Amino acid sequence: MYSTLLTSLEDSILTITVNRPDKLNALNQQVMRDIDGVMDEVYSNKEIRSVIITGAGEKSFVAGADISEFVGLTSPQGLSLAKNGQDIFFKIENSPKPVIAAVNGFALGGGCELAMACHFRIASENAKFGQPEVTLGLIPGYGGTQRLTMLIGKGKAIELLLTGSMIDANTALQYRLVSYVVPQAELLQKARSILEVINSKPAHVITRCITAANAAFTGIKGYEVELFGFGECFSTEDMKEGTSAFLEKRKPVFKGQ
Ligand code: COA
Repeated sequence: MYSTLLTSLEDSILTITVNRPDKLNALNQQVMRDIDGVMDEVYSNKEIRSVIITGAGEKSFVAGADISEFVGLTSPQGLSLAKNGQDIFFKIENSPKPVIAAVNGFALGGGCELAMACHFRIASENAKFGQPEVTLGLIPGYGGTQRLTMLIGKGKAIELLLTGSMIDANTALQYRLVSYVVPQAELLQKARSILEVINSKPAHVITRCITAANAAFTGIKGYEVELFGFGECFSTEDMKEGTSAFLEKRKPVFKGQ
């Protein structure tokens, strides 16, 4: 169905693998169209509770936007390329279902931006992160200047943007760009085990948490989003069940309502 992605749905977790290993999974326009399409499916398919995005092979998550497609573009075409990429990555960031990046190697340029658009990141020990666009005479265009700054702070972000240098997985952990570093063989299992915990919670509460946390970074009034979301929870069966279960010292049985 998607010529550049592999997908598999198991236990309500959709694993999306960017599959151009000969080009280190670089994001050409077909990959971007496929990611756009699969995210529409994530939004609409009730069987999908959560998502892992990873890259094919053991060397690269995604080594950036496909540089060969930049050749000969005019300035308006460059802008429209970035706009399209930003919109697709907003779709990931604003997904009502959690999306984790399992970073299995190089996450450079658009690859780092893809990982940062996900809700959080787990890296294998060989992962490397960076925004090397400056080396190409460019700035990041798929949200990298914004999300890197939000995630690791202005000083470190600007240093990485201006030098174009890469950081290894343990440095990424120290910068809080990733939540965990694990051996490559354990990467997907680690992601799955976290998502199994998340999938056991009420789906609409998960969505509200994502929406409220995102609002802290979008200029929308995050505290108000939190306020109304919190209030709305009180009209749900799951909130009644969760609080009753705690008070009755038993495990809650959520129905997603
Ligand atoms: N766009 C297009 N093709 C890419 C690519 C990208 N972002 N990244 C890697 N490739 C291709 C290479 O051109 C090469 O193709 P070829 O075998 O047809 O020549 C193939 O993937 C393997 O890459 P190679 O450079 O030979 O691997 P390496 O191990 O020597 O180096 C990297 C790995 C990641 C350091 C290097 O590929 C690189 O710097 N890539 C570009 C990173 C970048 O600038 N990304 C930001 C883009 S906005």
